[in-house]
Amino acid sequence: MLLGAGMLVMAQANGGQKSDPTSADAWRAGNTSGAGNFMSFCMPCHGAAGKGDGPLAAELDVKPRDLSNAKFMRSKPDKHLFKVIKEGGAAAGLTENMTPFGEQLSDNEIGNIVAYLRKVICKCELKKN
Ligand code: HEC
Repeated sequence: MLLGAGMLVMAQANGGQKSDPTSADAWRAGNTSGAGNFMSFCMPCHGAAGKGDGPLAAELDVKPRDLSNAKFMRSKPDKHLFKVIKEGGAAAGLTENMTPFGEQLSDNEIGNIVAYLRKVICKCELKKN
């Protein structure tokens, strides 16, 4: 399993025409973890622990959601979280302050972020009724 994932990452890194280790593709291939991408892309607004207290939060009229709130997160299906992250808040009837990440992140990377939110940030699973 781990070996397979490692080989996949290497295959992706070598798949592009360029083998430049500083290229965006190579950087991304080494940064597929939900934790790394959360810190790069989400922390500025949501904060390192997801509480909505990142350095940019003060600038926003509609404040970032507290993603560590297990009660809130349990009520949101993974599909919804995925859509909000990929297509942005406006696509789900929320504020456009929550920007879309479909350009910067692959579906796989977004999936890893959703897993990271559940495992580490809110420590909660989707509520099964
Ligand atoms: C520019 C600031 C900003 C960045 C960067 C940002 N968010 Fe948000 N996010 C927001 C704001 C503001 C809201 C609140 C939306 C609302 O309540 O209308 C939000 C809401 C959310 C929600 C809650 C959706 C819901 O149903 O209420 C999730 C989940 C979320 N963000 C995840 C992420 C993830 C994961 C990242 C990184 C890939 C990220 N955000 C990056 C500002 C940001």
